[in-house]
Amino acid sequence: MTPTDFGALEAFAAECRSRVETRLDALLPPATISPARLHEAMRYAVLGSGKRVRPLLVYATGHALGVTMDTLDIPACAVELIHAYSLVHDDLPAMDDDDLRRGRPTCHKAFDEGTAILVGDALQSLAFQALAGDGNGHDTLPHPTRLEMVGRLASAAGSRGMAGGQAIDLDAVGKALNLAELENMHIHKTGALIRTAVVLGALAATDGVDAALRNRLDHYAKCIGLAFQIRDDILDVEHTTAALGKHQGADVQRNKPTYPAIVGISEAKRIAQELHEDALESLSGLDDRANHLRELSAFIVQRGH
Ligand code: IPE
Ligand code: IPE
Ligand code: MG
Ligand code: MG
Ligand code: MG
Repeated sequence: MTPTDFGALEAFAAECRSRVETRLDALLPPATISPARLHEAMRYAVLGSGKRVRPLLVYATGHALGVTMDTLDIPACAVELIHAYSLVHDDLPAMDDDDLRRGRPTCHKAFDEGTAILVGDALQSLAFQALAGDGNGHDTLPHPTRLEMVGRLASAAGSRGMAGGQAIDLDAVGKALNLAELENMHIHKTGALIRTAVVLGALAATDGVDAALRNRLDHYAKCIGLAFQIRDDILDVEHTTAALGKHQGADVQRNKPTYPAIVGISEAKRIAQELHEDALESLSGLDDRANHLRELSAFIVQRGH
């Protein structure tokens, strides 16, 4: 597959992005409602030019299993809200201290640090409020399914998932991690949420998903979750600030352990490609409806931003 050969995925991705952005816009409180500055900042952090890869994974997994798109809207929003919160906190001076995100000033630069901290808090709450079905008119998912989604997303976001991975990341600055330690950091800080996007898509399929299929999808998700952060590390070295919408070279500048820093750029690319192939292999029993998942895996290891 050439890097530009994402025709079928692009059409599906455009539909998914439009759906999730419409629903996110409706879920986020209007900037006119008090506290207006916090609401304005929440909207700023979420409604921008994000790739929406995690929502895409929710929709693509559901699509592979015959789930209707409208059943997937709220889980897709929930995972993107957690992701957007994680970016706001990741950029804070106490963490990566970045001033550019999605081509614009980071939330704490556009507003202030206190507001950015509260944006993260409030986006996280909103994700679970949405999944719980509070006042959003969303009744296509049965209550036990929603409860399971809440539990899975909470554990992926928490100290044994994303937040834990970020703690490892903070501790790792300036240290020479070995490959196993680096992999462990990446599968937590980034992999956990990506894995959960696939889990939520599969949970939305109320029948016909046996344990073996769930395990295959989970293996796919683990592979692409790690590959996603390896590619992010590579992009930090190879791509421009303009293309990335965040500062190129930020990892090197902050002395972060990354795949290119630890194993070199060509080995990092080889590992990412191997993970992509492993991901495809785990989808081998699925029909053409899983093609969006296949293309997403290719996109993740070839993307330019
Ligand atoms: C960036 O995520 C942070 C990582 C986990 C590597 P994305 O590359 O998905 O960022 P957006 O949402 O498209 O801006
Ligand atoms: C981000 O990793 C992981 C989370 C936000 C949880 P990075 O720090 O590498 O992400 P970027 O490069 O700032 O987007
Ligand atoms: Mg970081
Ligand atoms: Mg960062
Ligand atoms: Mg990065």
